[in-house]
Amino acid sequence: MTTTEEQRVTSVKEAAGRRAADMVETGTIVGLGTGSTVWFTLLRLAERIQSEGLEIVGVPTSMDTTEKATDLGIPLLGLGEVEKIHLTIDGADEIDGEFQMIKGGGGALLREKVIASISDREVIVVGPDKVVEKLGTTFLLPVEVTSFALPTVSRALAALGCEPVLRLSDPGVALTTDNGNQILDCRFPNGIDDPRNLERAIAAIPGAVESGLFIDLAHAVIIGKEDGSAEVRER
Ligand code: 5RP
Repeated sequence: MTTTEEQRVTSVKEAAGRRAADMVETGTIVGLGTGSTVWFTLLRLAERIQSEGLEIVGVPTSMDTTEKATDLGIPLLGLGEVEKIHLTIDGADEIDGEFQMIKGGGGALLREKVIASISDREVIVVGPDKVVEKLGTTFLLPVEVTSFALPTVSRALAALGCEPVLRLSDPGVALTTDNGNQILDCRFPNGIDDPRNLERAIAAIPGAVESGLFIDLAHAVIIGKEDGSAEVRER
């Protein structure tokens, strides 16, 4: 990616991330997603806490977000301390016209999905390049797997029509998630025809902990633009 292209990607992420933070109301519990777009949400939330006394507690979806939010002075609670979340703001790797998504590029899919599942509202922040006609065409589908079952889950995933590849953190070293598991990134040569059924099929594989298919979980998407504006689409 050239420097200009990197700046363009960063500015659309910033536009989306900040716009979502401006939707947060005082007195609410906010799910804090993971990734470079949500980073701008965290920055804006911290700004609002300082400048206007916004009162929120965040529930982070990863150790990375926990560290960043703590450094920024955003008060946090763990999942065990809340029963539901009013609004979660998270990124995505792909989102289609039905608001179905692939997530997990940052490896936080399991906690992100659990938090999405108890959120009244899930708002997704992306740049325009993440909006796709068909899932699986620009991004591999991550599947979190318990290490013991990697060979069997890998074969079962291949039987569903994909080529699974173990995600590495360094050359020759398998990535370990916040939950102590590994990730298989699955390439579907022609994309994913039926995301809903595929999610169910993966959930039925023993040892597959969670897939990055997020079905019927997003309520709105905020698409950042290069001019600093953002388009809000409701499902
Ligand atoms: C992490 C995720 C992220 O939300 C997704 O990868 C998007 O990240 P970014 O905003 O950095 O493009 O699912 O598990």
